[in-house]
Amino acid sequence: MIEKFAAVEIISAKRDRNELTDPQIDWVIDAYTRGVVADEQMSALLMAILLNGMNSREISRWTNAMINSGERMNWSSLDRKTADKHSTGGVGDKITLPLAPLVAACGGAVPQLSGRGLGHTGGTLDKMESIPGWRASLSNEEMLQVLKDTGAVICAAGAGLAPADKKLYALRDVTATVEAIPLIASSIMSKKIAEGTSALVLDVKTGSGAFMSDPKKASELARTMVQLGVDAGLKMRALVTAMDVPLGLTAGNALEVRESVEVLAGGGPSDVVELTILLAREMIDAAGIIGKDPADALKDGSAMDHWRRMVTAQGGDPDAALPVAKEQHIVKAANSGIITTMDAMKVGVSAWRLGAGRSKQGEQVQAGAGIEMHAKPGEYIEAGAPLFTLHTDEAPRFERALEVLDGAVSIVENGKVDRLPLVLERIEG
Ligand code: URA
Repeated sequence: MIEKFAAVEIISAKRDRNELTDPQIDWVIDAYTRGVVADEQMSALLMAILLNGMNSREISRWTNAMINSGERMNWSSLDRKTADKHSTGGVGDKITLPLAPLVAACGGAVPQLSGRGLGHTGGTLDKMESIPGWRASLSNEEMLQVLKDTGAVICAAGAGLAPADKKLYALRDVTATVEAIPLIASSIMSKKIAEGTSALVLDVKTGSGAFMSDPKKASELARTMVQLGVDAGLKMRALVTAMDVPLGLTAGNALEVRESVEVLAGGGPSDVVELTILLAREMIDAAGIIGKDPADALKDGSAMDHWRRMVTAQGGDPDAALPVAKEQHIVKAANSGIITTMDAMKVGVSAWRLGAGRSKQGEQVQAGAGIEMHAKPGEYIEAGAPLFTLHTDEAPRFERALEVLDGAVSIVENGKVDRLPLVLERIEG
């Protein structure tokens, strides 16, 4: 095959701050997926993009080229409207678990293709896999059947979905090029557009525990992704939300499943409940679904019914006891006062060191490992009262997990809480 371009021309064009043409972008993504453009050439191009950026036309074309590298799913045989949510990830962010069955209970269909955790933020599939018997890998036919039967499916994205992104993401991870907004936006949106949902709500996290700690950068990422979705014909919404403090009272796989079930049973921590309802309302509104209000579906048990059906349809037992770690260690408050801060990043890294997360792809995670928080910012705590319970199967992990928690929490007599509002910004596309 005679190639249309040479990779070096495209790399030098971006190095010299020129715009890439549509044919150049189509070719470089296709040729990289075919193995014609080498990893070292793509690494150089990614670094040039990180340093010199891309305009909105280039980002849109780059996203389309990644979508075209694989299959595009189609849910037109469903008699319900599809809506999905994507979160950029954070500590204790278990929202997908109660949200998917909740939106199903309100009349939507939620085709949620999720990933595994890497680093200090957890992955939805790792959380769901702590439910005995639950299976993440489904064929496209099985996925459609679960969606038809239960209104929601949470499963792993198959190898056929945006294969260019799989290769590129692994390369970005080892070349310090993850952080470029055009590359993040196109990576996330290529998978979500290929997934075939007609409405998408983005939860872009900001604060210490988020991938975009600067709210201005989080807002730019949200706007870039909303525009990509609109260009592809999706109904889009984005919320920029707080991740300076962990979400809810747990971080860790089985611990987060337990908390999600509490939310579905009509209880659970107020921040998790509030964000779940807000995102569900956005999804329903964006998709144009006329049905039950999410707050009612949590109260009347219908969201819980959908959860049980969804878990069962994927081989899980919703009544089985969840795994519990072999070892526990309680961290007590050093002094009395108001908790003014709780650093999400430090809590996330600590949970990760306890075994809740992985440091390289393919590593096993511990289902029971993680951190329970007994109090959150704004609450009064007595000296000596439990602040955290650390869980792990391997006691030697406590030392390094405790090390990073040092200074994670401030307790001040008559102190004032210093934290971000839950929702910083809303964008509608
Ligand atoms: N998640 C993705 O899927 N891609 C990115 O680039 C960053 C986060």
